[in-house]
Amino acid sequence: MNASCQLAVCSHMRSLLISFLRTTQPRFTAVRRRHYEALLYRSHGHPNDVIKMEKMTLPDIGAMDVRLRMLAAPVNPADINMIQGTYGILPSLPAVGGNEGLAEVIEVGNQVTTLSPGDWVIPVDAEFGTWRIEAVCNERDLIPVPNDIPLLSAATIGVNPCTAYRMLHDFIQLKPGDTVIQNGANSAVGQAVIQIAASMGINTINIVRNRPDLQNLVQKLKALGANYIIAEEQLHKSSAENILKDVPKPKLALNCVGGPNAAYLVDHLDYGGKLVTYGGMSKKP
Ligand SMILES: NC(=O)c1ccc[n+]([C@@H]2O[C@H](COP(=O)([O-])OP(=O)(O)OC[C@H]3O[C@@H](n4cnc5c(N)ncnc54)[C@H](OP(=O)(O)O)[C@@H]3O)[C@@H](O)[C@H]2O)c1
Repeated sequence: MNASCQLAVCSHMRSLLISFLRTTQPRFTAVRRRHYEALLYRSHGHPNDVIKMEKMTLPDIGAMDVRLRMLAAPVNPADINMIQGTYGILPSLPAVGGNEGLAEVIEVGNQVTTLSPGDWVIPVDAEFGTWRIEAVCNERDLIPVPNDIPLLSAATIGVNPCTAYRMLHDFIQLKPGDTVIQNGANSAVGQAVIQIAASMGINTINIVRNRPDLQNLVQKLKALGANYIIAEEQLHKSSAENILKDVPKPKLALNCVGGPNAAYLVDHLDYGGKLVTYGGMSKKP
């Protein structure tokens, strides 16, 4: 799938999720609910073709189980790739879409010790199927999160910020004043990299794709703590090369995109530096 098609899919999925959540707000009645709606796929394919809203039966709550109501669930590239059948981990079908999201505990089984109604939780593992209104699962499948942080931050804390944190800590020891270079810098992971790196006193050189409102994006990334932002189309021009002379050579390069863009990162690494590839958004080797 090319990038514009992927964006169209994401926007379609987002509208589907918004209308899904609007039309299926939970109704509390004296009658115990047995069904809930979920966005389900029964075969792999283009998400617009294979994802359908279906009514599902809620299992009974066992002694160690928890009943959840989903509060928010994002659409990440991996969710789309799983539906397409092109991701490294694939669920058995039929599957509910969505790997990440925030839920509120509604009810707990009589031997649950770690959670109470009202708690906020996120799934331990991918493949949870977060595009649903309700779920019943074992308490061990959930991680509690504080419920005094912004809801959208809690709903997106489990995948992209953790990836950014690990990449900045696991591959090379960085110290204040060091430089990290990354492409796809406006991605969710890239924005987390910018913020965590800024808090560590590390310079970031951030490559993004050009767009008509590039200046708005530059302002946004600078507000997050980005030091330098280069449009992909400016790479190899003198303005970009001058930026690279202003700061120490990057010890770490983070590759979200692949293709020639990744080769540019390698070309500018310091001696002994490391390139970490965590995405392949251009679908080029
Ligand atoms: N390995 C891991 O543990 C891990 C964890 C999290 C995410 N990931 C991977 O990281 C990548 C980014 O995820 P995300 O959630 O941060 O994505 P996202 O927020 O949806 O952002 C996607 C990014 O990719 C760029 N992009 C899309 N198509 C492109 C193309 N053809 N050429 C160049 N750039 C392109 C977008 O740029 P524009 O704004 O210009 O479209 C944007 O910067 C995905 O591949 C995801 O699977 C891996």
